[in-house]
Amino acid sequence: MTSENIASHPGEVRIDLGDRSYAITIGPGLLDVPATYEGLPSATSAVVVTNATVAPLYAQRLLGALAARYAKVHTVSLPDGEAHKNWETLNRIFDTLLEQGCDRKTVLFALGGGVVGDMTGFAAASYMRGVPFVQVPTTLLAQVDSSVGGKTAINHPLGKNMIGAFYQPLRVVCDLDTLKTLPARELSAGVAEVIKYGPIADMDFFAWIESHVDDLVARDPQALAHAVHRSCEIKAKVVGQDEREGGLRAILNFGHTFGHAIEAGMGYGQWLHGEAVGCGMVMAARLSEALGGVDKAFVDRLSSLVHRAGLPVVAPILDARDNVGRYLSLMRVDKKAEAGSIKFVVIDPPGHAVVRSAPDELVARVIKASTQTFP
Ligand code: NAD
Ligand code: GLY
Repeated sequence: MTSENIASHPGEVRIDLGDRSYAITIGPGLLDVPATYEGLPSATSAVVVTNATVAPLYAQRLLGALAARYAKVHTVSLPDGEAHKNWETLNRIFDTLLEQGCDRKTVLFALGGGVVGDMTGFAAASYMRGVPFVQVPTTLLAQVDSSVGGKTAINHPLGKNMIGAFYQPLRVVCDLDTLKTLPARELSAGVAEVIKYGPIADMDFFAWIESHVDDLVARDPQALAHAVHRSCEIKAKVVGQDEREGGLRAILNFGHTFGHAIEAGMGYGQWLHGEAVGCGMVMAARLSEALGGVDKAFVDRLSSLVHRAGLPVVAPILDARDNVGRYLSLMRVDKKAEAGSIKFVVIDPPGHAVVRSAPDELVARVIKASTQTFP
């Protein structure tokens, strides 16, 4: 893939999935404009699912725009945080849907980051065996990754995103203005998922991120618009070829095998998902080097970029007595694992990724090196 379709202004990316195709609209000032929602199916009611942090910032604006389309618009405000991405919180959505007499045509709107988006999507997939939903992502991470492609899930104490469904939204609305209120740490977490697209698919984009990472962290509107647009283009292309992760889509999990172990091992919410992915990508790059796919210069380049984005590059100790054992056991719960054999997304060569298993001794070496070093 190359950067030939660079967008210098806000626009639209289409995700091509036959009769489940949809548009990702990207730009400033989209949230409260009724035209943004034109063409969505008619229904008597809509439900905005959001959380305690995002609701005071943006819920009224979305509700105002939706009032033009739907006779009744309800709101569910969930507790904020990865630690609440579970059955109990999911049930709150179902409680409201049932209490308000929502029917099969009710449209759900996920207003928030990836946690709200993943839970709303799963609720939409399962309420009355499926109701329509729209993603309105308000974090960089959700705009470049989680709102696109139809993966929905909640966590289980034994593993991240272990309970879920593939279920595509009708539309994704990325209002870039919402990123202005995002805490700096969350913005950096989103940059991790932007960086991810370079090594797996587009080294021209990687070079562009290297020269614009300071602009991204400073929230330069043009830089953010391009990063969201190009990330969505790459993700749309991958998902369009392999919606249900029969093979290719797994490359989008670069850094996630190590990253999920960090998230679960530290306790959900301690490390942000994007932080764990940032560090996990550096670990996966070291493994790629050990397997011969990249050289040390590439590992250093990636590590330096992750660091400049404000993300951790030194892996945490998950168990003082048996750190390697703890990482390995957590990674065996990963969805890519087959019969207990851990699968890793490795880069080979830069700009291309493959899924491979690796000997435990090699993985142990990477874990040991990653908990101590920073180039
Ligand atoms: P998040 O949803 O927890 O949001 C981060 C924080 O920012 C929260 O406190 C939230 O309330 C707050 N917030 C959201 N928008 C804001 C705004 N505009 N202004 C101020 N604060 C705002 O985290 P996230 O990083 O968006 O998403 C992480 C989740 O996404 C994880 O659960 C991860 O597993 C999931 N994910 C899913 C996919 C997928 O394909 N479905 C892909 C990547 C990640
Ligand atoms: N974030 C990984 C995927 O959507 O497949």
